[in-house]
Amino acid sequence: MKRLLDLPTPQRRAIDLVKEVAAEKDCHPYLVGGPVRDLLLGRSAIDVDLTLEDGSSTLARALAKRVEGRVRSFPQFLTYKVTAEGLPEIDIATARKERYRRPGALPAVTAGRLKDDLLRRDFSINAIAMDLDNGALHDPADGEADIERRVIRVLHDRSFLDDPTRIFRAIRLATRLGFTIEPHTASLMREAIEGSAFDTVAKERLWRELFLAMDEPDAPAVLATLVAQGALAPLFGNREHEELRARLERVGAQLAQQPEADRYVLYTGVLLRGDASPVDFEGSGFSQKRARAVVEIANEFPRVIESVGAAETDAERFRIYRGVTAEMLTLLAAERAGEGVHIERFREFEKFKLPLRGNDLEVPGGPHVAQAIERTRVAVWNGEIPPEEARSYARKVAKRLLEDAR
Ligand code: CTP
Repeated sequence: MKRLLDLPTPQRRAIDLVKEVAAEKDCHPYLVGGPVRDLLLGRSAIDVDLTLEDGSSTLARALAKRVEGRVRSFPQFLTYKVTAEGLPEIDIATARKERYRRPGALPAVTAGRLKDDLLRRDFSINAIAMDLDNGALHDPADGEADIERRVIRVLHDRSFLDDPTRIFRAIRLATRLGFTIEPHTASLMREAIEGSAFDTVAKERLWRELFLAMDEPDAPAVLATLVAQGALAPLFGNREHEELRARLERVGAQLAQQPEADRYVLYTGVLLRGDASPVDFEGSGFSQKRARAVVEIANEFPRVIESVGAAETDAERFRIYRGVTAEMLTLLAAERAGEGVHIERFREFEKFKLPLRGNDLEVPGGPHVAQAIERTRVAVWNGEIPPEEARSYARKVAKRLLEDAR
């Protein structure tokens, strides 16, 4: 187990400050949930999530004052967020009880004791609190033993019905940590999926969970498991196919080289492969432009990869590349060995500019001017003419075009 002392500087400084301010204000904060789980696993890049039975607002405000930071309050969840330069975000919550008035809806929240707060949570490994004063653990659901056994276990049989998004969370966590889902929990999960538990949840919440899955380090494995378990069927039917896992893996590998690419568009396009339409994106929050890119990937990819395969020259390739979205290009690079090199050349070509303006050509204006400059750009790029001859070449081309048009 990592001790608090071993934490990286920003987290450690945050915790030291919390302890100091809590002592001054006579408050008693506990570190809870994800960060305690991660500390017990020896991971140190923890979030700073705190819970108090009393005094969360006093602690949040005093802490913000001390660090000259800002405090935001979320009264419906009884939580505060403190942010300051050079410190990680600090979440401070009042211990709470939750009651699910109907399955799948957000719970009603009331103040409670620490134990209530721990036992309302998703899995035993996320239901541990650490007393910041002395490092003692509060572990009413025996989560530490489950961490040792490396299993994900729910705290009661209705857990997935109360909050079906926990199905996504279980698969995400199991994959990230290399844990297994304990057999009884796995069968509750299957029952919930087969009993259409997701029907009670707003589509927006399901998409949010799906995007979190796409943010995971091993997103392809998480996504393939979600599909295999039928967890994505409520969003867009069952689209499992043999090649899916390999395709997701190839996209994952490409994203590792091109982290700025739009991972949500790419993964969604691959998941929807074959047949996508805008109704599939209800609740996703995709702009029209991004939704179009997903549809293009899902519906047009086989045609595009075939025509790229048949292209023999740069000119032919570039014409195809120019007609598709940036995400389609990324997918082509992922799927076709050797295509990445051509695409890279295309990107350089698209960026390549001549220091030449229409007026420099000293010919009458009209569409032939832009055409001549474009042809000259291609000729310089291909090395057919040296850059210093660009102006005279462009002028010659423009004159010829002008004559041809007469
Ligand atoms: N939680 C829960 N049920 C949910 C969401 C969250 O019980 N549907 C609880 C868990 O105890 C979790 C804590 O709230 O540990 C904080 O949630 P979150 O920050 O989403 O998860 P972490 O466990 O911190 O995971 P991550 O490492 O992905 O941030």
